[in-house]
Amino acid sequence: MANVTVIGAQWGDEGKGKLVDWLSNRADVVVRFQGGHNAGHTLVVGNQTYKLSLLPSGVVQGKLSVIGNGVVVDPWHLLDEIERIGAQGVSVTPDLLILADNACLILPLHKDLDQAREAAAANKIGTTGRGIGPAYEDKVGRRAIRVADLADRAALEAKIDRLLAHHAPLRRGLGLPEADGEALLARLEAIAPKVLAYAQPAWLKLNEVAKAGRRVLFEGAQGALLDVDHGTYPYVTSSNTVAGQAAAGSGLGAKATGYVLGIVKAYTTRVGEGPFPTELTDEVGQHLGTVGREFGTVTGRARRCGWFDAALVRQSVALNGIVGVALTKLDVLDGLATLKICTGYRLDGRELSYLPAGLKAQGELTPVYEEMEGWSESTHGARSWRDLPAAAVKYVRRVEELIGAPVALLSTSPQRDDTIMMRDPFQD
Ligand code: GDP
Ligand code: IMO
Ligand code: MG
Repeated sequence: MANVTVIGAQWGDEGKGKLVDWLSNRADVVVRFQGGHNAGHTLVVGNQTYKLSLLPSGVVQGKLSVIGNGVVVDPWHLLDEIERIGAQGVSVTPDLLILADNACLILPLHKDLDQAREAAAANKIGTTGRGIGPAYEDKVGRRAIRVADLADRAALEAKIDRLLAHHAPLRRGLGLPEADGEALLARLEAIAPKVLAYAQPAWLKLNEVAKAGRRVLFEGAQGALLDVDHGTYPYVTSSNTVAGQAAAGSGLGAKATGYVLGIVKAYTTRVGEGPFPTELTDEVGQHLGTVGREFGTVTGRARRCGWFDAALVRQSVALNGIVGVALTKLDVLDGLATLKICTGYRLDGRELSYLPAGLKAQGELTPVYEEMEGWSESTHGARSWRDLPAAAVKYVRRVEELIGAPVALLSTSPQRDDTIMMRDPFQD
């Protein structure tokens, strides 16, 4: 298979960035296809740590990188991130980065709305506050400003008027001051040339690349349980995060997804509100959070931690068409005497093998666990399957059985090269 699609199989932060960076030297182009700068992908290479939110992780290895049409783009953030990563020695020029000219923009008014809603809501979602949801609302509502509009002052003026007419009552209702259309126009015009330098019909370029037999690596953001259709709605993000979105969000045909590689953390975490059946609030949860350094890259919030939920990942394997997985953070389980794996749920005396759609039901599930022996040896930084203790191998094998997909790659530390490959997704 020529292409690989990397997606998060849980609630995000599975280690997608690390794996995309590692895989990108086998690829010709790396493509983001959904989400925005709500993502936080951390790459560790030697003593350098790169934190990327909007730029595809391929930039660090100097690969051609594409921000596809399915992404919502905060243009100020884009320029800041290019500058920040530039200061770390990664030069992101228009030769290296393509921004889809039909991608929709995140504006300051989207961020205002996101934050004001979160502050006001009794049932807050726990968003990243970066305007992602409101920007997708305007996209679907056919009011959004797109990258190409930056080159057309008349279009920009008309669109801003229309957008402000829609936002005015929303802002009033939330006690926000009236938005200033002229100031917005001036701010957009000030950055337009810099942003437009990267703008291209990304679909066209990608189709050329694909026709030439080049390998495309798709980089998902968030995770399947945050998918707006398939996730724990309404505690989700506002895009489709599943692998099927890779084609629509890039303009490559449906066959382009190729090998779907699910990134799976050896336990479970979630940031923000919403149901989490295997959540641990005891010292084991604290161990996972501390050893795994589970703090959000974008907001710095502590991530909630819990046991591995095989039922969730099994569902994710089906929803994404996962061919194989990269299991990450196995090392964080080092030293735990006993490990639990959730194999399904109990609800009202019934057994369930999947996560039901209803929010109430999701909140009332009792996980069914099986116990496994832990290991006292260190797996941190292991670079060979042979270096793993027998109990760790047993854990990995049981995970494979329960989720119904093989472990193709195993990650044992944040470092790029602490990665064990059992199967090459680009060759499978
Ligand atoms: P992403 O959003 O899926 O890219 O994941 P994040 O980067 O937000 O979170 C994953 C965190 O775990 C990052 O800090 C990584 O450096 C780190 N990480 C990735 N793989 C491993 C691993 O195998 N072991 C350990 N200990 N940390 C890892
Ligand atoms: P990466 O790509 C983990 C969560 C937020 C919140 C919900 C909605 O690093 O895995 P949003 O700002 O998207 O409207 O917030 O989604 N969320 C993430 N959680 N990892 C992410 O990205 C996330 N992006 C959004 O915490 O619960
Ligand atoms: Mg993250």
